[in-house]
Amino acid sequence: MRAQTPVVEGDFMGNLGVPNIAGHEAGRKTYTLFKYNDVMAVLRDADTYTSGFIAAGLGAFMDGLILTGMDGEQHKKMRTLLHPVFMPKVVNTWRGSKMEPIVREEYMKPLAPEGKANLMDFALHFPVRLIYSLIGFPDDEPESIQQYASWALDILAGPQVKPEDAAEAKARALSASESLYKAVRERVAQVRAKGELGGDLISRLIEAEYEGKLLDDHEIATFVRSLLPAAGETTTRTFGTAMTLLLERPELLARVREDRNLVSSLIDEAVRYEPVATFKVRQAARDVEIRGVSIPKGSMVQCIVSSANRDEEVFERADEFDIDRKSKPSFGFGFGPHVCIGQFIAKIELSVAINGVLDYMPGIRFDPDYPAPVIRGAQLRGPDSLHVVWDK
Ligand code: HEM
Repeated sequence: MRAQTPVVEGDFMGNLGVPNIAGHEAGRKTYTLFKYNDVMAVLRDADTYTSGFIAAGLGAFMDGLILTGMDGEQHKKMRTLLHPVFMPKVVNTWRGSKMEPIVREEYMKPLAPEGKANLMDFALHFPVRLIYSLIGFPDDEPESIQQYASWALDILAGPQVKPEDAAEAKARALSASESLYKAVRERVAQVRAKGELGGDLISRLIEAEYEGKLLDDHEIATFVRSLLPAAGETTTRTFGTAMTLLLERPELLARVREDRNLVSSLIDEAVRYEPVATFKVRQAARDVEIRGVSIPKGSMVQCIVSSANRDEEVFERADEFDIDRKSKPSFGFGFGPHVCIGQFIAKIELSVAINGVLDYMPGIRFDPDYPAPVIRGAQLRGPDSLHVVWDK
């Protein structure tokens, strides 16, 4: 497609069977883009290529402060207000105070004597556990941690392709989303009432201010609630993908084990080579033309991130997984005004998890009793299972 038809009319992902969960009506004109420069130009220009339709689609699950579906001034103001809370200066303080102790004490130490595991079990749980702690919920209440994890999973399972599963899943997702909202709101009220702000997300969101604007309890609660689904499955799958790519390459594994500075290049290259979210959709706010193709106002514009990230005009040997390649932006965390606000959190979580595995699982390799993991999926990619063994 990149070589011959880089811009085509048609719902490319829909034709691959990917459901239309973004809220746009089926049948609306759709155009699909495959080249790096085109995808970059669209994601960069949020005035011409808007996201408001996403809020309509997600609205059923979560009304309120949903950044991903905001446009224009409203999005700019909110991003500016939230930005400082998600910057490395803040996020780095959580590495040693929360992320490393949780991953090591609660997951790695108990697992180490086993000598074997399906690492996707760990991958499913640690991102929700970490975000729960960063939000500022107490770490000494195991039942409520379990409860949050199960709410997060119910919300993620909300949109279903099969009509027979859809109603029940939607009802469960809605109820989980409401319960989560209530729990977060109570916590916000508690923190405000105590007047003792800590270093956690809720405290920092209470303090966040831009042009005299502060967030109210409803805004904080809806925003924080939206983080669980945004931070969960994406991190789970990226961990699975990065570990699979690493374990497939024993020489690289040995290098990374010896030189942990390479972990961040491993993560960046995994996110380029096998992005979890294969595409991003925008809506044209006016008539536009891309590479000679006219795209009328109101059309959906589908950006194929997995293709753009492998564009041979931009990346040499684009189909090779090479953690030593010169760093260039790719779109696994999005790009432009809507770029993932949680990317520094995600990268540190992934680094802590990968370092934990390398430290506690010496000689880690694929379990020969199971088929090797396969990174698959048209919409959200990653391995389904990741069976490994290590030297006890
Ligand atoms: C490896 C893990 C992650 C991946 C691959 C990922 C990917 C993405 C992508 C591709 C977008 C852009 C959406 C768009 O352009 O419409 C995005 C946005 C966002 N992400 Fe992430 N994300 C990850 C982890 C996280 C985490 C840990 C958090 C929160 C702590 C988070 C919170 C958000 C939010 C709030 C947005 C919306 C930003 C906006 O629209 O302004 N994400 N993410």
